[in-house]
Amino acid sequence: MQKQLFNYKKKLTKKKLDSKSKVADNNKVNELTGSEWKFSTKSVISKAYPVNLQHKLRSEHGGQKPPDLCLDLIKIFTKKNNLVLDPLMGVGGTLIGASLCNRKAVGIELNNKWINIYKKVCKLEKIKAEQTYHGNAKEVLEKNIKNNSIDFILTDVPYWNVDQLKKTRSKKATISKLSKFNKSNSLSKEDWLLDMKEIFQKCFKKLKNKKYMGVFIGDIYRDKHYHILSADLANSISTIEGFNLKANLIWFDQSKSLHVYGYPYSFVPSMIHQNVLIFKKEIDED
Ligand SMILES: C[S@@+](CC[C@H](N)C(=O)[O-])C[C@H]1O[C@@H](n2cnc3c(N)ncnc32)[C@H](O)[C@@H]1O
Repeated sequence: MQKQLFNYKKKLTKKKLDSKSKVADNNKVNELTGSEWKFSTKSVISKAYPVNLQHKLRSEHGGQKPPDLCLDLIKIFTKKNNLVLDPLMGVGGTLIGASLCNRKAVGIELNNKWINIYKKVCKLEKIKAEQTYHGNAKEVLEKNIKNNSIDFILTDVPYWNVDQLKKTRSKKATISKLSKFNKSNSLSKEDWLLDMKEIFQKCFKKLKNKKYMGVFIGDIYRDKHYHILSADLANSISTIEGFNLKANLIWFDQSKSLHVYGYPYSFVPSMIHQNVLIFKKEIDED
């Protein structure tokens, strides 16, 4: 009896250990082991990402994301050889991240300068350059990307009204580095949200059913108001039927330095985080 109990306990422990250290045979989402899966569901990403992969060259953009952060996100939502799309690719944080973990990728970018920097980085780092398209995502998605062909979308939106960034200390209007990629500075927030929704509607068609999309979006403080742009954008994308919001991951960007905003008169936040909105395509298939 005691031996039976011992064997039963041993079996249970083995099962527990296996599920922690093995990729489950029926894992439909990724290739993470049980313990990696558990770690990946944390709602705050606090890992410090290296300043690598031609960071100086890529930082000409101003809105570039660490490829290693993209890699970590891509691994949560894909398997090897899956196809990842970034319709607003910039200098290719997503594309580089995908290559580094043996996923295929495709990127779209309005400004050829950023595509050229991406290609140069690939050459210098001896990384295979992925397929890129120069043009407006709305048109390229329609023309060049097949419906239901994408396993994961990871992208990063151009900001609304970012050019009007004001320094509360000096009261001087300054042109942000980000303005280089924002051609829509005369748009209202509502128009910007509609513009973004149009792109995501097209993305939705390209994504396979039951697959995910991650969208980087920072909140902003402008004209004495805090704008939860992530919530605005999440609500806008959620109006696309079948695109369901599943999470808001907070990326604590350890590379951001603190500034003295508002001192000594009022509290103005120093933004050291960005949101990564996670959506899933869920439609009934007959
Ligand atoms: C926030 S940046 C992306 C940065 C990127 N994650 C990286 O690591 O470099 C957004 C990019 O979208 C591009 N963009 C804006 N509107 C676009 C559109 N309609 N079609 C294609 N690209 C667009 C901008 O030129 C900009 O480079």
